Amino acid sequence: MSTFSDVDASARPQELIAYLDHAHHGLQAPKLRLEQGLAVQHGALVLDLGCGTGHELARLEAGGAVAVGIDASTVMLHAGLARLTDKGLPARLAQADAARLPFGAAAFDACRIERVLQHVADPAAVLAEARRVLRPGGTLAVCEPDWSSFTIASADPETAAAVAGQVGAQIAHRAVGRDLRRLLVAAGFTEVRVEVELAVYASLEELSPIISLPHAAERARDTGRISPAQADHWLAEQSALSADGGFHATLNRSVLAWAR
Ligand SMILES: C[S@@+](CC[C@H](N)C(=O)[O-])C[C@H]1O[C@@H](n2cnc3c(N)ncnc32)[C@H](O)[C@@H]1O
Repeated sequence: MSTFSDVDASARPQELIAYLDHAHHGLQAPKLRLEQGLAVQHGALVLDLGCGTGHELARLEAGGAVAVGIDASTVMLHAGLARLTDKGLPARLAQADAARLPFGAAAFDACRIERVLQHVADPAAVLAEARRVLRPGGTLAVCEPDWSSFTIASADPETAAAVAGQVGAQIAHRAVGRDLRRLLVAAGFTEVRVEVELAVYASLEELSPIISLPHAAERARDTGRISPAQADHWLAEQSALSADGGFHATLNRSVLAWAR
């Protein structure tokens, strides 16, 4: 289970809040793209499922929407309340499991879900709830990564594949980005559009805030996929590539989907 699956049980929730605040700046392009596709009208009632620290609630409110946030974590909701209050914006927040929403059917004009499905127990149940609370014709926007899409160049592609296979291994649904279209159709959405934002990393310094190669190599080693010597040799190769400019890694970091 990843830490974002149960933030309140985390030993260091402030680190998770800091991670979200850092990611908020690094993910501006996909976040703006997601909002463009959602095309919220002035005064529309919009639900942010798994709202975290409330960055997007503030953006929606500032843009003229009436934004409602739910999150499973009281720590996150307190952070969201502080952000909205500081900005003088109304705070409409509730603690809830995204798979059991405390709202009636067809209550919202639009709904957004960002980097949440990867952490929940049952992504299909969350999408079914999103569909239930959306009015007919209302739009859902989703953004999730596909950690299983990670690739990295190496003279030893077998070890590279073994390490890449461990990226996001602690996350409940590491490949949910890849499954978005299938899951949305299964939830009953008929108009589904998907875009992918490919991230390219040219050094270990660029990659390490997102993915820790030493942790992934450690997991590949500890699960017997590679030997300790292979792990050390491979990590040394990646450090050398990073130092001399030959490092190359890619990730479908944001899979964006809009559905009605
Ligand atoms: C990676 S954070 C993303 C937060 C926010 N959407 C963003 O993009 O900044 C994942 C959030 O999902 C929440 N979450 C995890 N499981 C949940 C569930 N079953 N129901 C509601 N929220 C959940 C976590 O508490 C956390 O705030």
